[in-house]
Amino acid sequence: MTAASPHRVGLIGWPVEHSVSPAMQNAAFDALGMSWHYSILPTPPSQIGITLAMIEEEDFRGANVTVPHKKAVMPYLDEITETAQAIGAVNTIVVEKDRLIGDNTDAHGFMTALVESGFKPTDQHVLVLGAGGAAHAVVYALAQTECAIVIFNRTAARATRLSRRMDALGCGKSVAWMSSEVSLETADLPPFDMVVNATSVGMWPDVDASPWPNTVAFPSDCTVFDLVYNPRETRLMRQARTAGVKTVSGLDMLVHQGALAFQRWTGLPAPVGVMRAAAEDGLRTMRED
Ligand code: ATR
Repeated sequence: MTAASPHRVGLIGWPVEHSVSPAMQNAAFDALGMSWHYSILPTPPSQIGITLAMIEEEDFRGANVTVPHKKAVMPYLDEITETAQAIGAVNTIVVEKDRLIGDNTDAHGFMTALVESGFKPTDQHVLVLGAGGAAHAVVYALAQTECAIVIFNRTAARATRLSRRMDALGCGKSVAWMSSEVSLETADLPPFDMVVNATSVGMWPDVDASPWPNTVAFPSDCTVFDLVYNPRETRLMRQARTAGVKTVSGLDMLVHQGALAFQRWTGLPAPVGVMRAAAEDGLRTMRED
């Protein structure tokens, strides 16, 4: 590599064209005057091995991994951190001395956004909607705290699997719930202090959808955390705002997972404010396309 070549990082996914991560990470590199560049690495499922070989051969410093490859990349890596193993997914790859190390910064992103919002995760009851990849990171993060967790998912088997996985790791108290016969409207919900939407319901273009029925009230001191960040205000967030309860946006989690990835690659603290502004700008631009 010549002195003029920037250090490279990239985003492995399929499709990845609409991600705001390039804008967010490149804004961080620019703000710190670093000669680094973050690009998209569109990778169909059959080509994961080829992209990872390219990352090694072309001296990339690392990568992010997104849908649908967060699990699929794992067998190709030299090492998986304890966090990524526990979550069962890799969203960040760090290249260290020619070794590819798989990590997961989603749980940290979630918890940092939560604590930043003022929520104190001690002795709280949390209802997690969803049992997919995002829910794994959320439940893992919450299971490190003293919170009691109830997982509520359309497909009961996935909720049970996630709950058992956390129990096997010896973290927290997870309870599985919900099959397609039970809805939030008819379920005998336990008291809860926070609802986390870790389903994809409400995500653009399905912006009128919400995982939360209008007929079910939020407790007055409840917090609603919606992992969906596109649109910026989801229907669920609007329902929460109308009910006068506190909201936390998935954009904050996105920024903090990106900030930790930045730190892992560069060894430097991330300029979080710059990254948040760039992510918000990126989302706005996407809507104007
Ligand atoms: P991600 O990695 O983003 O979490 P995922 O692993 O595909 O994506 O998980 C998506 C989650 O959203 C799942 O919990 C899914 O429920 P199922 O396990 O029953 O599939 C949930 N989800 C997606 N569409 C949904 C819908 N229309 N109603 C209820 N839940 C839905």
